[in-house]
Amino acid sequence: MEDRMISGEVQDAEQDIELSLRPETLRQYIGQDKTKENLRIFIEAARMREEPLDHSLLFGPPGLGKTTLASIIANEMGVQFRTTSGPAIERAGDLAAILSSLEAGDVLFIDEIHRLPRSVEEILYPAMEDFCLDIVVGAGPSARSVRLDLPPFTLVGATTRAGLLSAPLRDRFGVHCRLDYYDADALCSIVERTAEIFHVGIKKEAAVEIARRSRGTPRIANRLLKRVRDIAQVQGDTIISEQTTQTALKMLQVDGEGLDHIDHKLLFAIMDNFKGGPVGLDTIAATIGEESQTIEDVYEPFLLQMGFIQRTPRGRMLTDKAYEHFQREVPGS
Ligand SMILES: Nc1ncnc2c1ncn2[C@@H]1O[C@H](COP(=O)(O)OP(=O)(O)OP(=O)(O)O)[C@@H](O)[C@H]1O
Ligand SMILES: [Mg+2]
Repeated sequence: MEDRMISGEVQDAEQDIELSLRPETLRQYIGQDKTKENLRIFIEAARMREEPLDHSLLFGPPGLGKTTLASIIANEMGVQFRTTSGPAIERAGDLAAILSSLEAGDVLFIDEIHRLPRSVEEILYPAMEDFCLDIVVGAGPSARSVRLDLPPFTLVGATTRAGLLSAPLRDRFGVHCRLDYYDADALCSIVERTAEIFHVGIKKEAAVEIARRSRGTPRIANRLLKRVRDIAQVQGDTIISEQTTQTALKMLQVDGEGLDHIDHKLLFAIMDNFKGGPVGLDTIAATIGEESQTIEDVYEPFLLQMGFIQRTPRGRMLTDKAYEHFQREVPGS
């Protein structure tokens, strides 16, 4: 799969830049007001009791700020931030080693926690519940289970697929935070903040324009800003203007609603080949030469969320909004 300008997933060259853009405190973290407010109260209460924060689960689509929020939690609690990820932990022993190296109060962050192998997950249950590790010593008939105490710690898990988490694991998190797509105002503030860190001036209208095309996702907003900045620089603009932004985003093939050529291909296929649907997912996949799974997991969610397509029992259908977006006449109107 190609790297799309408007993909929420992190791309290879971006990782270092992202680190420099990460807000460090709840105050600097823009948007997600409800989540922030809850966390602020939980953190304050835990600090007053001098206890670690309850285990917290952060879920939501890629690029919305889960990893960022996890590191903010550690920072606000004034404790160490240790990170690992579901796919990185292959055996129970790997996790046992990480857990037994924790210090009191630490935040252990497990990214993509839905990808933890089941055998590893079972180690987590007593660790989360009673701060202890059950390990088996010896083998065969003489094998016995030994209980080791762990220091109290906070597990922060992140996942893009909360539905894939097993119920016993999900239930052991005291705090559940769902991150939502950002509204235009919040994204605009994020663009302005990032511009400041990049030491580049940007007109309000230009920031609004980038925000509007960022699919509700800070990672995409930052990526678009970076590319627009490059183009502005080459053109000799000292302050990024709306005009330059429009031109740049056109060059980058990101349209007014944040759709790119792949979204266009998908929408036009339904519009032109199937009279707007309904049409089955597999048929669409064959028509545009993509895997059904990729369409369902990657291409379609944003189009559904924005109301360009609808899922019906007989397949996918374009909405009036899709026709209006392309200035085409709505069939039957
Ligand atoms: N609320 C926010 N305010 C400012 N910047 C943010 C905010 N949320 C995220 N960002 C920026 O967006 C980038 C992506 O955020 P982050 O890596 O935390 O996303 P994620 O949800 O962990 O993504 P993934 O699912 O790919 O792991 C970060 O570099 C950060 O600078
Ligand atoms: Mg992350």
